Amino acid sequence: MYKIHFFDSLPSTNDLAKKYAGQGAPHGTAIIAARQTKGRGRLGKTWHSTPGKGLFCSIIVRPDLAIVDYPKITLTAGLAVAIAVERITGASTQLKWPNDIFINGRKCGGILTESSSLNEPIGTRYAVVGIGLNLNSREDDFPDYLRGTVTSLFLETGICHDVRQVFSAVHAELLVQIETFVRNGFQPVLSLWKLRDFLLGKRMECVSLEGKRISGVSLGPDSEGQLHIKVSDGQIHTVLSGDVRLAHED
Ligand code: BTN
Repeated sequence: MYKIHFFDSLPSTNDLAKKYAGQGAPHGTAIIAARQTKGRGRLGKTWHSTPGKGLFCSIIVRPDLAIVDYPKITLTAGLAVAIAVERITGASTQLKWPNDIFINGRKCGGILTESSSLNEPIGTRYAVVGIGLNLNSREDDFPDYLRGTVTSLFLETGICHDVRQVFSAVHAELLVQIETFVRNGFQPVLSLWKLRDFLLGKRMECVSLEGKRISGVSLGPDSEGQLHIKVSDGQIHTVLSGDVRLAHED
């Protein structure tokens, strides 16, 4: 049976979760920290972790999925967080491919998924789903460079949220959505994801992992979770991973 581990402070919950996963911690095991000193985002970015005002957690999952399906865990996790946030706050959420949770056009949360070596056999293969969610942050808790683009559940609802209650909802929903994916395939997860697609039909820019810049209109993710972008000459580009922004953002 999995355990939930609470800490006052950690450099990064993902790092400890990977250590526990390497030691065999079971599916569903989670690490939560009240503060992180080296919270990490995707693509080497820093995750700003306002002490005591957010949910910073990492959940170990060991779904019985093929290696090619592991990248889809990030979209699955984003959907799970979105559903949990909607249930708790009553607010509508949007999902920005591949890993951001938005409310009213501002980012309130993100997912950093890190997997074991893809060659690990089923049984020792795992993914660590790192979740950062701004719960009770005020505008002045965010550094200048983030203000105006990020939000918190408090800023959207005027209500302070209990980190353990939000964690329980997120954890339970993640396990439900992963189970749906394993039993019924990715399609049911993707359908719910697409209902919340923030970028769909918008002009956007993507810098792929290889550094290639693509500008166009988002057509949304396909059945493999890859983003389709229609560029000006009508061609459609497919992106597996990258840094995505709306065209008018700096
Ligand atoms: C992103 O938006 O780029 C992803 C942010 C993920 C942040 C969370 S906070 C808990 C976990 N530990 C980390 O160091 N990062 C993730």
